[in-house]
Amino acid sequence: MVAIEIKPGIKWIGVNVRSHDLFEGLWPIPYGVSLNSYLVQGEKTAVVDLVREWSGSSSNFLQQLQSAGSEPRDIDYIILNHLEPDHTEFLRNFERMAPQATILSTPKGIEMVQHFCGISEQVQAVGDGEELDLGGGKRLVFFHTPFVHWPETMMTYEPASEMLFPCDAFGGFGALKGILFDDQVPQADQAFYYDEMLRYYANIVANFSRPVLRAIDKLAGIKVSAIDPSHGLVWRANPGEVVARYKRFAEYPAGKAERGITLLWGSMYGNTKIVTDAVMRGIAQEKVPMEVFEVPHVDESYVLASIFKNRGIVVGAPTYETKLFPPMAHVLDSAARKSMTNKKAFRYGSYGWSGGAQREFDALAQALKWEQSEPLEFRGAPTADDLRKAEELGGLFARSIREEA
Ligand code: FEO
Repeated sequence: MVAIEIKPGIKWIGVNVRSHDLFEGLWPIPYGVSLNSYLVQGEKTAVVDLVREWSGSSSNFLQQLQSAGSEPRDIDYIILNHLEPDHTEFLRNFERMAPQATILSTPKGIEMVQHFCGISEQVQAVGDGEELDLGGGKRLVFFHTPFVHWPETMMTYEPASEMLFPCDAFGGFGALKGILFDDQVPQADQAFYYDEMLRYYANIVANFSRPVLRAIDKLAGIKVSAIDPSHGLVWRANPGEVVARYKRFAEYPAGKAERGITLLWGSMYGNTKIVTDAVMRGIAQEKVPMEVFEVPHVDESYVLASIFKNRGIVVGAPTYETKLFPPMAHVLDSAARKSMTNKKAFRYGSYGWSGGAQREFDALAQALKWEQSEPLEFRGAPTADDLRKAEELGGLFARSIREEA
């Protein structure tokens, strides 16, 4: 792609990354990811957020800058909203190409510039609400929004164009498919980007939902004509709808998740699998939306997105050596690490020869404030009665989700 003008004097100069590397060393990006950077040109010129040196992205970035009619030597300010290396890894080299540029970030961000990039000169901390006048009618205002999702994070706002540059907030996985603006993307692809926004949030931002809500409150009085995040589409069709969607994500851990069910199941020899079919029959009769994942055969990135989104969690897993089936324990531990609290839960599974899985699940449910319904355990292979009971309990659980006030 080449630089794209968003408003006069404001251009997207980001890059698409298509790599089989895991994002943050953890999360698969089969559809890639964009690292968005923006050029704001008044009498002075600023770059808002940079890129990682990843799969050719830094040389692509320099080509983008050139396609916008600029060179590194033209840059007066480098604005760093966030120091995570997907936006800053190139700084160490770019700073050598643009030694005249001043690097601006929050005070904590400036500390991190030293720690991550070894740079301590030509840096300047900006205060919360501080303005930078670029001349030519362009100003940048910096709002500190800590812990969205690192301690140093801020958002940058350009008042004349009403553009908000929030870095990770409102962003998502998924490289751009030749289109930058949400209102130019086909309807089906919009759903793709919303799904990838949710996955990004659940994987990366979930633990910081309270700071997200604080940031949304803080910026509530600002008029925004477009949201220009550091990953994914520019949201200009209806920025308020995107903010509302993000706010809904941030409220999921408080028990306000969607009225749906995530069913996770794993089976050693097929006994828990047979019961899973019965549980699903019961849920299906209540017509509650359900997403089903066999553990460990689906990457936990996708499982976590579903757990995060849904109010109801069904866990089908046997006892393994007096504890929970290990791959299920692993994915539930990941949900706990991401503070996916305040759910309704139902567990079933084979007791094996000792039991123990339910005890481990009880402790986890208590820690995460998951309200459990009556569990179901069966000895060895399920009987016809066990299957009837599984269908009944699945139905009761689904109804409790459907009828929740
Ligand atoms: Fe896109 Fe937190 O970095």
